[in-house]
Amino acid sequence: MRSIKSILSEHFVAAIEAACGKEYRDTDPLVNVTNKPGFGDYQANLAMSLAKKLGDKPRSIAGRLVEHLALEHVCEKIEVAGPGFINLHLSASFVNEQLHAMAEDQRLGVEPAEAPQTIVVDYSAPNIAKEMHVGHLRSTVIGDAIVRVLMAQGHKVIRQNHMGDWGTQFGMLIEYLIDIGWSEGGSDNAIRDLDLLYRQAKQKFDADEDFSERARQRVVALQRGDEYTLSLWRHLVEESIGHFNQVYQRLGVLLEESDNCPESFYNSRLDGVIVSLEEAGLLEISEGAAVVFLDGFTDRDDKPLPMIVRKRDGGYLYATTDLAAVRYRLDDLQAGRIIYVTDARQAQHFAMVFATVKRAGWAGPEVRLDHVAFGTVLGPNRKPFKTREGGTIKLTELLDEAEARTAAVIEKKNPDMAEAQRRDVAGVIGIGALKYADLSNDRIKDYVFDWDRMLALDGNTAPYLQNAYVRILSIFRKGLVERQQIDSHAISIQSPAEKALALKLFQYAAAVEAVSERLEPHRLCSYLYELATCFHSFYESCPILKEGIEEELRNSRLALCDLSARVMQEGLGLLGIETVERM
Ligand code: ARG
Repeated sequence: MRSIKSILSEHFVAAIEAACGKEYRDTDPLVNVTNKPGFGDYQANLAMSLAKKLGDKPRSIAGRLVEHLALEHVCEKIEVAGPGFINLHLSASFVNEQLHAMAEDQRLGVEPAEAPQTIVVDYSAPNIAKEMHVGHLRSTVIGDAIVRVLMAQGHKVIRQNHMGDWGTQFGMLIEYLIDIGWSEGGSDNAIRDLDLLYRQAKQKFDADEDFSERARQRVVALQRGDEYTLSLWRHLVEESIGHFNQVYQRLGVLLEESDNCPESFYNSRLDGVIVSLEEAGLLEISEGAAVVFLDGFTDRDDKPLPMIVRKRDGGYLYATTDLAAVRYRLDDLQAGRIIYVTDARQAQHFAMVFATVKRAGWAGPEVRLDHVAFGTVLGPNRKPFKTREGGTIKLTELLDEAEARTAAVIEKKNPDMAEAQRRDVAGVIGIGALKYADLSNDRIKDYVFDWDRMLALDGNTAPYLQNAYVRILSIFRKGLVERQQIDSHAISIQSPAEKALALKLFQYAAAVEAVSERLEPHRLCSYLYELATCFHSFYESCPILKEGIEEELRNSRLALCDLSARVMQEGLGLLGIETVERM
């Protein structure tokens, strides 16, 4: 299916050539959807820029263009407005044709990328031996939506879960586990609650000098590859990954164990990073540490800010690992683009890593490195979302609560639903609502976590969208309509509400593209919300099953319903949100 924008643009290019001459045919016709009612459905705003080039009045240029436009088949009316806007009113017959083409198109108009790439998306990345926090929830949910959209465009997407599984804290944790006898086949209860374990180990580390010395020795043993120490570390890692997998499964994200590529994976590649930086002439020694200075990075006192890649004691850092990871992704995974999804506080870290990669010449200018940054989840007090005691909120508890609250709403609304079904539906709707609440916010902004708002049936929420979808399915059920029998040839729009819905449906592909271009899932959310709103208006003003409705009209409207349901389901699917049949 060709987009309306490209059909119109093509006609404009021909008109420019005919009206102004061949040399102007590269002028962007600036065709876009009109936002103001009464100004047509689409608008072309090229007359202003053409007029400047030609030294003529925009209105007269617009008039000349219109004379040369061969759009009889597409538009029922074309008018020049204001200083020289060209307003295009689509004809019903063209809208019908487009709707039919869209219904026939598996991809619903979403075009495959012109130049498919291998894209690495680094997301979720929780830390071993710590609970995942809401920040990791954001990374997981936003990253997953981006992955799905890029995949839908035909890119080869490689997911990378860069878990934090290495570092000095493991000396302390392992030593503590030995102290409490966990190593001798003790029960795993000790690491059920990872945050508690961490706190206890840290307490002992701070209070007990003998212990802290042993913990330091343990780090050395771990780095040296001592088998006993490594086996305890491995157990800790596996146990944590088990926790993470439970969360991933309940969230319904694409991440799998094979996507795990944790920090320790890069241990053997860290020396190589230093050698390479040295060869590139970027390495400097400052107070015994190996550092890289980059243009444009300064500290608070305006002094050049170094990126430390090796500490004085020889230890490597988070940045060193990230540099090794970039090299691996470029050389071994053959990435043409790498996307990192983390909170905004890591913006400077990534800016420095990216600048180093480019300066060292590891990646050419054609390689895109993106940091998809997001804001903080806030509690009702507008401070970072924590438990009442100030601890990390356990994600499993958050998921439980989403389901329980949704089940309660459903029970009120639909008391006849069987218990088992209610539980299933609550799972899908509750988890979907939680994910949607995160995705629908402009990611860079902080947002306040609010159960009532995310579960509301009104407003830009998942339940509102689900409700629109479920309503369509219930129309089919009530009308005993077999969806496979619905024929998009039957579409013949009559009323303004039908046209408005059609125009909104046509915007689906652009909404998906907006997500991939700007890596902003909320653009698709806003679109789906508008679509649901258009559908509701259509539903209010255009009876479908009512007695006395002619069969032709009924079939046309059913086909519109079907297409709307498909777009809603696909769109939610790209956000990683499942739909239900009833709610
Ligand atoms: N583990 C890190 C954290 O919890 C996130 C890692 C992000 N990815 C990366 N390549 N640095 O903040």
